[in-house]
Amino acid sequence: MNVNSDLGKHTRPIYNLILHLHPKKVKASTLRFKLSFGLGGMSALLVVVQIFTGLLLKFHYVPNPEGAYNSILAINENLLFGKLAHNIHYWSAILLLWITFLHMLRVFFTGAYRKPRQATWTFGVLLLILVVLSNFTGYLLPWDQLSYWAVTVSTSILDYVPLIGSTAREALLGGQDVAGGTLSNFFNLHTGIIPLLLLALMVHHFWQIRKAGGLIVSEEEKDSPLVDTQPNLVARELVVSLVLIAFILLLGVLFDAPLRERANPFFSPNPAKAPWYFMGLQELLIHFHPFFAVVVIPIILFAGIFYLPYFKLKDGVQGIWFISQKGRETGKISAIAGFIFTIIFILLSEALPDPESILPGNFSIITTGLIPFIFVVVSIYFFMKIIQRKFSINRSEYIQSLFIILIASYSVLSLVGISFRGEGMSLIWPWLL
Ligand code: HEM
Ligand code: HEM
Repeated sequence: MNVNSDLGKHTRPIYNLILHLHPKKVKASTLRFKLSFGLGGMSALLVVVQIFTGLLLKFHYVPNPEGAYNSILAINENLLFGKLAHNIHYWSAILLLWITFLHMLRVFFTGAYRKPRQATWTFGVLLLILVVLSNFTGYLLPWDQLSYWAVTVSTSILDYVPLIGSTAREALLGGQDVAGGTLSNFFNLHTGIIPLLLLALMVHHFWQIRKAGGLIVSEEEKDSPLVDTQPNLVARELVVSLVLIAFILLLGVLFDAPLRERANPFFSPNPAKAPWYFMGLQELLIHFHPFFAVVVIPIILFAGIFYLPYFKLKDGVQGIWFISQKGRETGKISAIAGFIFTIIFILLSEALPDPESILPGNFSIITTGLIPFIFVVVSIYFFMKIIQRKFSINRSEYIQSLFIILIASYSVLSLVGISFRGEGMSLIWPWLL
């Protein structure tokens, strides 16, 4: 009786499907919600929601400048559940970006990027890039004033990349300006190439996680017993999924996706801002020479992120949030320092006279590029020296603090760009915007 019912359970189609995603048994310690907060699974579910709602919208969306805006109005007003599908697509795109980013932070802060999970991290970073690109290419599709000018501003940043920048921009836009060619390119990338790549990398990501033996566990929990995936893990995944779906539905019912007036290429709003996730970069351009803001700083950051799993670290601490008590304390101090330092830097850069007026000519790459860059690097270096001396932290804790400073700094830059920049991108209180 026991054997038969067990056999029955294992041949059920739904059980077979689960076995495509999970092994038959998992370590009991990996079921702890506070280890992963279910963020990876939530990202996966949101991608599925995006594909599902996106495919529905695609039946009615018209990908050309004459029809795009009206088709969105028609989806909102004339189509049964059209507005709900549109709203859900809009809100889960934002949620997906946030949750994938938080998933990356949890992986980082539990040390799950280290051997044997280096490649999982690398492919994860590629997934995050694809999620940003999905958001960005989708942003243009409503073809309203907000989307048209946000894409114009962000793509013009490409012009600052030497040698290939202008050519890459023209290829992406399908011409000199954002127009019909751009909408067609963005639509095809958004509904074809990017989702395909996203799905392929996700499948690979899942396989890598299984190959590494499941989620990370700390040394003490290494010998935790194995338990059946069904129902132990599956029941938990079901609860997280249902809560997330309920939350998205609620957002979609209560809050409409914003839609401004139809795009007008002859009237630029002031200020014209990039989408919120690129506002940190746009803010950086106010303070640094474009070569530093768009080339030097991003290259250093991306090199660091991709190289992260390959830094030689002596301690084998994995699966423990923030490494140690010392790691927690230095992490907090670094976050506060990153916030305060970036605010001071922005205010200083606003208050000091424009270096161009003191040293006109071809020196701006030095005055507004190299000098502020060295100022920032030296300040971080000395701050880290103090932390290292005071807390005698090891290499992992050092890298963690540095990472936190950079995240805090980008958060402040984004916040200032989004909420504190008014006409002509001058500083202004948010309530006066
Ligand atoms: C669409 C984006 C992504 C999806 C759907 C996804 C999915 C998942 C899932 C389901 C897990 C296992 C459960 C969990 O940890 O919550 C996982 C683990 C992992 N992910 Fe992702 N992920 C994505 C993006 C990323 C990013 C941006 C990174 C890092 C840059 C990353 C790195 C990792 C690593 C290293 C693990 C193994 C963690 C461990 O062993 O504890 N993933 N991912
Ligand atoms: C990770 C996946 C995806 C993300 C993050 C994403 C994101 C977005 C965003 C932010 C918009 C603009 C919404 C607005 O401002 O109103 C949009 C629009 C759109 N997306 Fe997606 N999308 C994804 C996948 C897809 C897929 C797979 C399809 C179809 C195959 C699709 C079809 C559309 C269509 C037709 C629109 C225009 C209608 C509208 O604005 O709602 N999307 N997408």
